Amino acid sequence: MIREALQKDITVMHKSSPVDLVTETDQKVEQLIISSIKEKYPTHSFIGEESVAAGAPSVLTDNPTWIIDPVDGTTNFFSLFIWLFLNILYFSRSQIEFGIVYSCIEDKMYTARKGKGAFCNGDPIKVSGQEDISQSLVLTEMGFRKNPEHFKTMLANIKTILTIPVHGIRSPGSAAVNMCLVACGSADAYYHMGIHCWDMAGGAAVVTEAGGVIMDISGGPFDLMSRRLIIASSRAIAERIAKEITEFHVGRDDTD
Ligand code: IPD
Repeated sequence: MIREALQKDITVMHKSSPVDLVTETDQKVEQLIISSIKEKYPTHSFIGEESVAAGAPSVLTDNPTWIIDPVDGTTNFFSLFIWLFLNILYFSRSQIEFGIVYSCIEDKMYTARKGKGAFCNGDPIKVSGQEDISQSLVLTEMGFRKNPEHFKTMLANIKTILTIPVHGIRSPGSAAVNMCLVACGSADAYYHMGIHCWDMAGGAAVVTEAGGVIMDISGGPFDLMSRRLIIASSRAIAERIAKEITEFHVGRDDTD
């Protein structure tokens, strides 16, 4: 559906801000995924980006839950910028059970199941293992910030990381691609404040199973609903990023 939509004119609508985009394709893909899963698992719960935008709750309970981002990188999709991913996570028994991230244009399917490793189109993948931050390529995203102080902090953080120094900073425009690039060893770290559980969904499973480290921006344990994360090829790099960057308040997915 996503690839077919790319052949036609894409009409974009706005959600919470002028840069928070949604298209008919995001909505249709999410409906298709949810209805297909529901046929097989009628009692399961769902947290989908577009369902939440339409007023559905965004709360993780003890019930088996599927977290879905139909097009992670909607701006990329609208701009025909190559990286757009479909992102699915299955959460049950208070833990991440498996994740699937599909790069629609590249036709690459990343999969990971707890304790069973991470794969791209069936081939095992693993993080670079880099321990030295000055030898690393770091990913982050530069989203629009309504609060000028947050904006300043976001830019200051980029400067701080660049002047460590690191090899560079990149922004591909999709949380899922960032996480898969670290999982494959093409980049060494990714940090972000202000994303959502559906952006981090499948990628959290993939990067963990690829041997990566995932933590909260404060250096504490990763929390899927916290809207912030650091992932890295090693604990040393993740902890150094946590130490260097300044936090700002982004709220939570399950309370704000
Ligand atoms: C977006 C992407 C992007 C991030 C934004 C997200 P969406 O997801 O993950 O990298 O900077 O914060 O909203 O809206 O295209 O699914």
